[in-house]
Amino acid sequence: MNYLDMLTKLGEASAHPGGFKATAALLKKRRLPKGSHVLEVGCGAGRTACFLARQGYQVTAVDQSADMLEKAQRRAAKAGLDIRFLKADAESLPFDNESFDMVFVESVTVFTKADISLGEYWRVLKKDGRLYDREIVLFGNPGEKARRRIQRFYGIRTLLPLPEWIKLLKSNRYAGSKTVVVKRTIPFITELDQQRESDPGSILDPELLQIAVKNYRMLVRYRKHLGYAVFTGKKEDASR
Ligand SMILES: C[S@@+](CC[C@H](N)C(=O)[O-])C[C@H]1O[C@@H](n2cnc3c(N)ncnc32)[C@H](O)[C@@H]1O
Repeated sequence: MNYLDMLTKLGEASAHPGGFKATAALLKKRRLPKGSHVLEVGCGAGRTACFLARQGYQVTAVDQSADMLEKAQRRAAKAGLDIRFLKADAESLPFDNESFDMVFVESVTVFTKADISLGEYWRVLKKDGRLYDREIVLFGNPGEKARRRIQRFYGIRTLLPLPEWIKLLKSNRYAGSKTVVVKRTIPFITELDQQRESDPGSILDPELLQIAVKNYRMLVRYRKHLGYAVFTGKKEDASR
């Protein structure tokens, strides 16, 4: 079992830094007109996708995990929300160019080769479409060994400081790339989620508990080095 398996078994539906509270705060201000087509990449157990649908957006949500998608689908069905869910890889999205008005991502790009996934998000955005991506950011220098340890435990492929993220967005042609939120620590969040669907017995699984404890220890140990930011950028010129 790895970190992502643990999240899946627990049905963790706001498995990103800042939790659901941070998502709601970011989306409180209407970003787009109702009916706009939003793609959520790496939707996990679907809490954010449901929130976006409740805001009146037309939502397509993808994840690479069939188990997560099943939980997300059930959550949406119980809420009577019409969301299109698909199993897909962020690095190779099964959509035509210029399909979406917004691409929304929370703690997913770090698990991918970011140069490729950011390029995919750009490709499927319509002209003037916007990316919002909340990702883990490295602060200071924890040393190479610690960096590798963090990447190995979480299964993270991209662990970068802020300026490197912005460089990556710019090289992927996002105009006006900037950070709209920057937090220098990742709070440990246990949120009430009444729709949570944990696998039966998972909470007592010793292997899972071991990973949960290690996660807590990692967040404490590297609290000065692991923070997060929300990156945004616009697809201004689709012709280039
Ligand atoms: C930390 S969880 C975040 C889930 C959700 N965004 C949330 O905030 O609750 C990361 C999610 O990204 C998905 N994921 C990881 N790599 C992916 C990829 N290459 N393509 C699509 N989904 C991916 C995992 O299956 C998992 O559901």
